[in-house]
Amino acid sequence: MIRTVPTQPFDGQKPGTSGLRKKVPVFQQPHYVENFVQSIFDTLEGFAGKTLVVGGDGRFYNREVVQKILKMAAAAGFGRIKVGQGGLMSTPAVSAVIRKYGAFGGIVLSASHNPGGPEGDFGIKYNIGNGGPAPEKITDAIFARTKSISEFKIADVPDIDIDQLGETKIGDTVVEVVDPVADYAELMGKLFDFDAIRDLFKSGFTMRFDAMSAITGPYARRILEDQLGAAAGTVVNSTPLPDFGGHHPDPNPVNAKDLYDLMMGPNAPDFGAASDGDGDRNLIIGRGIFVTPSDSLAILAAHAHLAPGYAKGISGIARSMPTSLAADQVAKAMGVGIYETPTGWKFFGNLLDADRVTICGEESAGTGSNHVREKDGLWAVLLWLTLLAKRRQPTLDIVREHWAKYGRNYYSRHDYEAVPTEAANAVMEAVRSQITSLPGKSFGALKVKSADDFAYHDPVDGSDSKNQGLRVLFENGSRIVYRLSGTGTEGATLRVYLERYEADPAHHGIETQAALADVIAVARQLSGIAEKTGMAEPSVVT
Ligand code: G6P
Ligand code: ZN
Repeated sequence: MIRTVPTQPFDGQKPGTSGLRKKVPVFQQPHYVENFVQSIFDTLEGFAGKTLVVGGDGRFYNREVVQKILKMAAAAGFGRIKVGQGGLMSTPAVSAVIRKYGAFGGIVLSASHNPGGPEGDFGIKYNIGNGGPAPEKITDAIFARTKSISEFKIADVPDIDIDQLGETKIGDTVVEVVDPVADYAELMGKLFDFDAIRDLFKSGFTMRFDAMSAITGPYARRILEDQLGAAAGTVVNSTPLPDFGGHHPDPNPVNAKDLYDLMMGPNAPDFGAASDGDGDRNLIIGRGIFVTPSDSLAILAAHAHLAPGYAKGISGIARSMPTSLAADQVAKAMGVGIYETPTGWKFFGNLLDADRVTICGEESAGTGSNHVREKDGLWAVLLWLTLLAKRRQPTLDIVREHWAKYGRNYYSRHDYEAVPTEAANAVMEAVRSQITSLPGKSFGALKVKSADDFAYHDPVDGSDSKNQGLRVLFENGSRIVYRLSGTGTEGATLRVYLERYEADPAHHGIETQAALADVIAVARQLSGIAEKTGMAEPSVVT
């Protein structure tokens, strides 16, 4: 029943920050998926008879790839495959299911927040037994295997019915079609006080959750509307569609414009939130205020103890380097550790496993905790609802009070998209070549305190990661970071992260770009970005 099929290697099957990501037509080439999946299995050891979790965000080509993986995982000798009904499961839910059942690992089918559809993006990512993305040691080995692969094995059986819950068999392998929401919802019920949140909704609290026609629709409907009593219709765009209904499922104020406009307008509900394609990112907007992911991390860390899952307090906080220093203020006040890691959720894994940190977050709209090993969009929303239930104040007041207590870190990211690679490299080189000479130099009122090419030494496994972004820190707490995106699929994307610290509450009401004007000017001057890219202004400002 197992067929061995000869094949030839494809170029470029190198997993990036979050697995192998390519355009759909690339994945549709004969054997492209099979080669990569077989390379994963060839790299792993000791999974015979064990469990594999499989699910995706429902984007175009999801169902076809699920069928291939089921037949190949059976041929490879897995004992059980837990697959989400319809081939669906959010990224944090896959992580939760792997952990709950002690699975050997899991495969997530997603290109996260990248657009879907026949011409959109697709992706395959392998997660290990702790529920987190495979570390580089494994992804490098998978890539090496893709270059020498000569055959793959697949069970010669008709397609499995993935729409009916229940078990079927392929040879000795049990294929179990599971409710993709149930285990995740159960975990959320343990971490959070659902009664308290139910009381909040009972009191007339209103909310909109925009699932952006992606994976979180079924999760948000079940948890927010069915279990927590939010009004029917609270969750919008709640049916996962193969092309996300044309949405760009990246939850920022630009792509979630409908939600943003609603929250800034006269008919705003009390609270707004959104998640991305595969459910790991979050957007938090109160009535009249967009909460930056960096502020959200700091505020959630300061309030985590209000949720039963974190009642004993948090052990520490980790943030990616470009994320603002707002969380550092909270960690300092709480007397817990703060860790600064390179961009990419995988860098949090060791810190979480070693219990050095409980809460992690990134400026790229990811927040999460030790409950899984991925960032988790709905989790962030539920923790926000927890603090709103407890404090019964508008989000705007909560954020302002946070600034008054810890100071405000004005923060903005300027993205220069689809820049020719040489131009992007030239910008980085221009800054890098000056970096050691910057300390002590002044630009108007801004005096450079330190500057470096960020390198990370993992305190748990001792590994080193170099060239993780150029940072310039000023004496007054302002900061500029330059970094090339690791997730774009078109040319290079240059990111410039801008930050200014302001302790005085009298100066907390300035419009963000105006507050950062000095820092922005220095960032442009230092890098010559306009001349080198031919772009006078960034393509996206968030
Ligand atoms: C993915 C990762 C995040 C990371 C982000 C960075 O979403 O899961 O952990 O922060 O990529 O993206 P960038 O485009 O800035 O490299
Ligand atoms: Zn995502």
